[in-house]
Amino acid sequence: MDKDITILAIESSCDETSAAVVVNGRKVLSNIISSQIAVHTKFGGVVPEVASRKHIEVISQVVDKALKEAEVSFKDIDAIGVTYGPGLVGALLVGVQYAKGLAYSLGKPLIGVNHIEGHISANFIQYKDLKPPFVCLVVSGGHTFIVYMKDYGKFEVMGQTRDDAAGEAYDKVARAIGLGYPGGPKIDKLSKSGNENAIKFPRANFHEESLDFSFSGLKSAVLNYLNKMEMKKEEINRADVAASFQKAVVDFLVANAMKACSIKKVDKIAIAGGVASNSALRKAMIEAGKRKDIQVLFPELVLCTDNAAMIGSAAYFEYIKGAISPLDFNAVPNLKLGER
Ligand code: KG4
Ligand code: ZN
Repeated sequence: MDKDITILAIESSCDETSAAVVVNGRKVLSNIISSQIAVHTKFGGVVPEVASRKHIEVISQVVDKALKEAEVSFKDIDAIGVTYGPGLVGALLVGVQYAKGLAYSLGKPLIGVNHIEGHISANFIQYKDLKPPFVCLVVSGGHTFIVYMKDYGKFEVMGQTRDDAAGEAYDKVARAIGLGYPGGPKIDKLSKSGNENAIKFPRANFHEESLDFSFSGLKSAVLNYLNKMEMKKEEINRADVAASFQKAVVDFLVANAMKACSIKKVDKIAIAGGVASNSALRKAMIEAGKRKDIQVLFPELVLCTDNAAMIGSAAYFEYIKGAISPLDFNAVPNLKLGER
């Protein structure tokens, strides 16, 4: 395609309201993120009703800011991309309705984007020459997947969590050791001063060929450990608990990710989602990749957490295939990967 394609993208699936302007799926002209973390911290987690209200309050300003920073106006936009699932239904609806209104009034095509596909696409922004096929480990607050990306927008799920998502486990364990919300970054930081071999937490054991994950048993093991220590009136070393928990999570993620690369005989693996920011995961993946001659890719931190630039990237690859959404399309809170 000769002409540049400029996409205005909107993301509101959880607790970040974001708008971005992205050219040809790879070049970010702006990526404005308005985070609600401070509001939800008081409640120890995301309150869906509050999230929807906050999205409504800021969405117009966030979109205006994204256009302004990109130095473009509505007439320069070729299409509008919006996350329509998975996520919190009320939160998704704010972005979807806003995007529909814009698309209708401006007479521009609308592209509904799967949030998880957006996370994977963040790697196309980070690595301008990256092309499928590759394996991707998606680790966020709500999802944990190992995916083989055959082509743009074509996914094969190779493994997934059978219970809690990796980020969810981080958040729950963080709450149990009194670190508050969001737990991932706090455990990451505290672990640096702990001993990762101090406590042996059990790991789920599936059939050798399975690439699935399970984190709820690990979370329960941490809770049991904390209860036992309290009952014995022994002092709890929170940094050791954090580091030992983190090691169990990271070992599991890395082992399955590397297995997936061997099965598909690929030499590159991308990481995506909020937990892809985790410093121990990045380090362990790079080390394992070096041993197996596999290139490990991950987006910069701002592209790992929820942001609209990644949605603009995924929307572009749908747009060039002609996958335009009808104006009566709706939010799908439990949208599956690869489903449209
Ligand atoms: O992708 P994301 O921003 O939102 C979802 O789509 O869920 O992921 C948020 C999750 C939260 O569970 C958060 O605790 C986790 O990502 N997270 C981290 C780190 N930064 C964010 N987990 C571990 N280490 C981090 N540095
Ligand atoms: Zn996300």
